[in-house]
Amino acid sequence: MTESGPTGFGGTTLAIETSCDDTCAAVVRGRRILSNVISSQRAHERFGGVVPEVASRKHLELAGPVVDAALAEAELTIDEIDRVAVTAGPGLIGALLVGLSTAKGLASRRELPLLPTDHLQGHVAANFLEPEPLDPPFICLVASGGHTLLAGVTDHSGFEVLGETLDDAAGEAIDKGARMLGLGFPGGPALQKLAEDGDPDAFDFPVGMSNGPGLDFSFSGLKTALVYKCRDLGEEGVESNRADLAAAYQAAVVAQLVDRLERALAVGQWEAVALGGGVAANGPLRAAVADLCERQGLRLKLVPMALCTDNAAMIAAASNWSEPLPWPEYLTFDAFATGERA
Ligand code: KG4
Ligand code: ZN
Repeated sequence: MTESGPTGFGGTTLAIETSCDDTCAAVVRGRRILSNVISSQRAHERFGGVVPEVASRKHLELAGPVVDAALAEAELTIDEIDRVAVTAGPGLIGALLVGLSTAKGLASRRELPLLPTDHLQGHVAANFLEPEPLDPPFICLVASGGHTLLAGVTDHSGFEVLGETLDDAAGEAIDKGARMLGLGFPGGPALQKLAEDGDPDAFDFPVGMSNGPGLDFSFSGLKTALVYKCRDLGEEGVESNRADLAAAYQAAVVAQLVDRLERALAVGQWEAVALGGGVAANGPLRAAVADLCERQGLRLKLVPMALCTDNAAMIAAASNWSEPLPWPEYLTFDAFATGERA
């Protein structure tokens, strides 16, 4: 099959995503997800964070079985696939290369086109999928372990960065805070659970860059504030205040995310808001954004949890607007770790 440009919502796509520690494959037809398989690597838990070399090795073990599972769940064979999409970056370079090599191999088998796709565009494009698809224009807050940004989405093929973190990502701050409170990795779900028993007003944590009109984020000061708070409280003090510390820390992360979204809404003409990235699974964040949208009469799109965290269905959705590379041109194509390909 040959394709000469982006296809929009046509055809059946097999997509692969291996930018970090989740090995993912999905089959998507138009806006409909036929399968979306995510194998989260538990191997990193004992290290308290993602170890790049371990991630690459695990992707090597898992990529084949995960692709097989995605095809089986979609009740299709590779012969019924029109093109193969894959995350080209940004991400961990070794991890990306495993997914890219797998995708090249699968596409080559039938000389299918390959669609190298941007990971962040994937988080935005998760909103284009069923159920209740959202089409541009909308503003999307993407907050994950590796990225935090506000995307102004005016067409399906890209987005404008309205603001982004100047240091840590929101998920990174959450994971590091959770670790200081003795919670495992990844810390988001555990911190949220612990915070349910705590009082968010019990401690006063700083909301980064709360003065001024800017749309950028900063979480490093918040992290340092927790280090000092734990030092002042001492081991026993931390132990007896863990739930309150978790609630107040989480509240400061959420407050900053919502504050920046609110500022962006004040300067732009947006009628719809979407959330993406793993942190978008956070209950208090979802509730606060829902409240903001209700107050301002805006449509809110909250994708299902499986489309918030890293997944390959979102890569398939974004790939509909990627430039397809014909066989065998893509055999020399490389992944990229950060920023944009030159
Ligand atoms: O998008 P994602 O799966 O992978 C990256 O691209 O980073 O996001 C993972 C991040 C982690 O930092 C994790 O702690 C955070 O999302 N996370 C949460 C929740 N679930 C996952 N953060 C806050 N609350 C949650 N419920
Ligand atoms: Zn991600």
